[in-house]
Amino acid sequence: MNICLRPVEAQDLEKIRTHRNEPLTQRWLERQTTIDAASQRRWFEAGGAQSFRIVCRGAEDIGLARLTLSDGAQLCTVGLDLFSAFRGQGLATPVFQHIVAQGRQLAPALDLWVFLDNHYAVRTYLKSGFVHDHSTPVKFFTREIDGQLGVHAYVRMVYQAAA
Ligand SMILES: CC(C)(COP(=O)(O)OP(=O)(O)OC[C@H]1O[C@@H](n2cnc3c(N)ncnc32)[C@H](O)[C@@H]1OP(=O)(O)O)[C@@H](O)C(=O)NCCC(=O)NCCS
Repeated sequence: MNICLRPVEAQDLEKIRTHRNEPLTQRWLERQTTIDAASQRRWFEAGGAQSFRIVCRGAEDIGLARLTLSDGAQLCTVGLDLFSAFRGQGLATPVFQHIVAQGRQLAPALDLWVFLDNHYAVRTYLKSGFVHDHSTPVKFFTREIDGQLGVHAYVRMVYQAAA
């Protein structure tokens, strides 16, 4: 499928901001604040984009990957976003598996956080070797989803390599 990851550059900021501020992206973010160009620029200049990569398919930019190292590079927190034009086409699993392969080169352990009712994301993560980490307390956030205000569980998953 010719998936690759490349660093985020200044010319990507508008595209990332547009993606980040879309209601369907914001719905599943831990922090739902809307980002403006000036604060995004400060974030970029402070090195905030170093944990992110643009996901490419050939010459096309199709999404955003997170690869955040912590615990002295013992842990890599991964994340997957597809830009809206590329959702619903079965790309989530092959793209995420590519992100996982990159993450495994960076750290011995991988984790992620996901809303339990982000079904397509959870399905993708389970298929890619992640399991629920029942030892980490679940977080709860209020979200308005399809006009309904409710409390939604946000859970940690960890990568478990096949035996
Ligand atoms: C989560 C996300 C990456 C999933 O990508 P996607 O393109 O929507 O999903 P895909 O088309 O690859 O499908 C993923 C799975 O959900 C299933 N699915 C997708 N759309 C579906 C639908 N309308 N009905 C039922 N199942 C569906 C697919 O069949 C697939 O499962 P399978 O591989 O077993 O067939 C994407 O929706 C996204 O970027 N969302 C916004 C950001 C986000 O939520 N990121 C995750 C944060 S933890």
